[in-house]
Amino acid sequence: GQGGALAGRHILVTAGPTHEPIDPVRYIANRSSGKQGFAIAGALAALGARVTLVAGPVTLPTPPGVTRIDVETARQMAAAVDAALPADAAVMVAAVADWHVDAAGQKIKKQADGAPPALALTENPDILAGLAANPRRPALVVGFAAETEKVVEHATAKRARKGADWIVANDVSGDVMGGANNSVHIVTANGVESWPDLPKEAVAMRLAERIAAALGS
Ligand code: C5P
Repeated sequence: GQGGALAGRHILVTAGPTHEPIDPVRYIANRSSGKQGFAIAGALAALGARVTLVAGPVTLPTPPGVTRIDVETARQMAAAVDAALPADAAVMVAAVADWHVDAAGQKIKKQADGAPPALALTENPDILAGLAANPRRPALVVGFAAETEKVVEHATAKRARKGADWIVANDVSGDVMGGANNSVHIVTANGVESWPDLPKEAVAMRLAERIAAALGS
């Protein structure tokens, strides 16, 4: 965009799940529709930002004005985030798989004796924590937290642990996953702001405006 509160700013967004292959036909993944992250990318672009959206495997259309980089695994997402720097802000919405498997080159076959295969899991990089500790850290780093209980308490701890400036916490004990609405709490150094239950597009627009205000643009 040309004008707009975020004109001249570059903002990085991650969205969707990651898929971690087990073999050529199987994977492990987190549950994520990508809707909230794609809406945030679109809202930031609508305010004039140059937006790089690093997207895991989802079938959503790319919002207007957004540059999309498709990835499959957490390791690919981490590399794409790094390659997209520098950025003025980053909003990490992706539901990144915590582990990957050393994938088999051929489809794993069922054994005649019924013995199940063992999956050796290796921890994935924490993209948000890595970015927050990066020498090229964006001025504003925003993480998400999907919680089913003690939402604000867990989000406050997560903010400190990951070195994020803000954590957007949502209660996923209801039907948020894949749903149209989201009710979030914004946890910052100054405390907690709880927003009403809103369509994901409205959450995205409010967050984009808040980011514009924080960047002083
Ligand atoms: O630890 P947890 O997965 O609950 O943290 C959620 C936040 O951390 C989200 O912002 C998510 O995008 C980010 N994250 C990440 N890389 C990981 C795990 C989570 O960027 N490996």
